[in-house]
Amino acid sequence: MKLLGDWLRSNSRKSGSRIILAADVGGPLESRLDAATSLVSAVRERIVAVKVNWHLLLPYGVLGLRKLIERCNDAGLPLIADMKLNDIGATNVEAAETLFSNGFDALIANPFVGYKEGIEDLLAKSRVMHKGVILLVYMSHAGAREGYGLKVGGEPLYLGFARKTRSWGADGAVVSSKSLAIIREVRSVLRKEQLILSPGVGFQGGDARNAIAAGSDYLIVGRSVVESKDPLKAVEALNRELGNSGPSPAVRERRSSL
Ligand code: C5P
Repeated sequence: MKLLGDWLRSNSRKSGSRIILAADVGGPLESRLDAATSLVSAVRERIVAVKVNWHLLLPYGVLGLRKLIERCNDAGLPLIADMKLNDIGATNVEAAETLFSNGFDALIANPFVGYKEGIEDLLAKSRVMHKGVILLVYMSHAGAREGYGLKVGGEPLYLGFARKTRSWGADGAVVSSKSLAIIREVRSVLRKEQLILSPGVGFQGGDARNAIAAGSDYLIVGRSVVESKDPLKAVEALNRELGNSGPSPAVRERRSSL
């Protein structure tokens, strides 16, 4: 039983990487599972984790994804379900139980649903099962500011979500790699062991080095790798780019307290 943060850190040391592969494989539905499984096999030694989204979860479901799940489990890569879960506690718990008892190690949830009878039950379930919950704090698309950036009580919603991530004790937060000031702000709110995972590098315009320098721990990368002719090369190029950027604040503080 490993805590998500410890597991990612240990994988990062082994692989020299900070990349979480978003296995967002497109194309005909029936060929996606094989394509995603081969993709994971190709890059498994140079990434820290795998995230799946609706591209795979919808056509295959948890049982249909068994091959991919086993490939990730065998490779020692945490598997994250990007459901942006946003429902009442009982439904959240049902989803978590299905994912966590079938080889998933963490899920992404939306703090918007609130704590009582929402995220509280989900966090309780994930703790019992020793699994991870990451909360959406700031998304990476252009419209993010209309929701996550909305001013409520004089401050942006994402700041409130960052505080909730801290006080609720989630494993970490998703913050867009394109919003460097927001990464810094969220970093200053979170506990040192809480992770920042940042999507949006490459295709959505985010810069890997800048995101890490601002305080992200890991980058979630999809299309720049998935749609590359040589996914391993694409991952290695990103790893190289980050090679000299040094540990992020969270990692640095954790190390010094060891
Ligand atoms: O292809 P690309 O690298 O842009 O993929 C980013 C992945 O991260 C997608 O699966 C997307 O749904 C997800 N994501 C995101 N922004 C968030 C949370 C998740 O782009 N805030």
